[in-house]
Amino acid sequence: MNFEAFFKSELEGLHAEGRYRVFADLERHRGNFPKATRHTPQGPKEVTVWCSNDYLGMGENPNVVAAMKEAIDHCGAGAGGTRNISGTTHYHVLLEQELADLHGKDAALIFTSGYVSNWATLGTLGAKIPGLIIFSDALNHASMIEGIRYGKCERVIWKHNDVHDLEAKLAAADLKAPKLIAFESVYSMDGDIAPINEICDLADKYGAMTYLDEVHAVGMYGPRGGGIAEREGLMDRLTIIEGTLGKAFGVMGGYIAASAALCDFIRSFASGFIFTTALPPALAAGAVASIRHLKASPFERARHQDRVRKLRTALDQCGIPHMPNPSHIVPVMVGDAAKCKWISDLLLDHSNIYVQPINYPTVPKKTERLRITPTPLHSDEDIAHLVDALHSLWSRCALARHVA
Ligand SMILES: Cc1ncc(COP(=O)(O)O)c(C=O)c1O
Repeated sequence: MNFEAFFKSELEGLHAEGRYRVFADLERHRGNFPKATRHTPQGPKEVTVWCSNDYLGMGENPNVVAAMKEAIDHCGAGAGGTRNISGTTHYHVLLEQELADLHGKDAALIFTSGYVSNWATLGTLGAKIPGLIIFSDALNHASMIEGIRYGKCERVIWKHNDVHDLEAKLAAADLKAPKLIAFESVYSMDGDIAPINEICDLADKYGAMTYLDEVHAVGMYGPRGGGIAEREGLMDRLTIIEGTLGKAFGVMGGYIAASAALCDFIRSFASGFIFTTALPPALAAGAVASIRHLKASPFERARHQDRVRKLRTALDQCGIPHMPNPSHIVPVMVGDAAKCKWISDLLLDHSNIYVQPINYPTVPKKTERLRITPTPLHSDEDIAHLVDALHSLWSRCALARHVA
């Protein structure tokens, strides 16, 4: 086989469908987020980032940065081993305690990313619990889908956020089979929120465990940043809460919080936990500082919600269609892959606004969008500049406006 020709022809397919991903070459400057330098062949340019998942700007929080520097000065760069073989430092232990406390659980277990925590935990439960059936929301993240596949257990997909469909599927399954319901709180592309309470009611009725991915909610919702389940007083109803340290907490890594026995079980059987180098201690130290800060400070959360409201109002005033949802994610709908990419390119090249186009397969065809994520650090001027630029592009592209 001509491997090179194969790789190139597959890539040409992506180009032809307008799905080829181009990365913006950015350099953030601490203290100046959401501004960043964009490196281009014509030289550097300053841009405003409107699509970061550093939702609260914690990546440049002075406490976080200081904690990371101190940890590097104190114990060097890497962990130097897997958690089992010399890679567990006191920073990791403190981080797991902090996370267990955040979610009101006995224990927590950290992984190298949110992706790995979903993949390793769901995969291990699926593989090890005899006869387990996993009921998975149709819009679950790729990492959950891959984990469930890897577990090779029976899986049943239920209609997104539809508790009637979930109940019909639970009722149709073998009454005696062990069951787990896997879902997210805030869905990252549409920004809608799961009916957690009703899902927990069904879990109780059918004796199922629950697995909630709070990746797009931790740090941002609830009085201490414990996520939507904390905000709704439901944390104790969930068997497993999964989260990331890489988005609102501004660092990197993932985790689960659950009972001591469940965390110990995953620690002891999950290959994605066991056979990989532990997070660098500085990342663990930064995450601890970030979680502690957000547990005590409601300021970032309040300002974040204020910025989201302000942006939505400004979009409404000029009829730019955005998906109505109860979260901080503002999907501005374009509905055409080529136009979506074109608008994103023009925003970047002409207005120095960076917002990545979101196309198929991340979202269904004809629902292509700009996924806009305001942060507490976006100013009124930033919002006005973004909305002005969108307003004129909407006219140039002859895109439909939303009439209130
Ligand atoms: C719902 C969901 N879960 C898990 C992840 C993976 O988290 P991480 O970026 O920490 O790997 C993502 C990433 O975007 C996500 O959207």
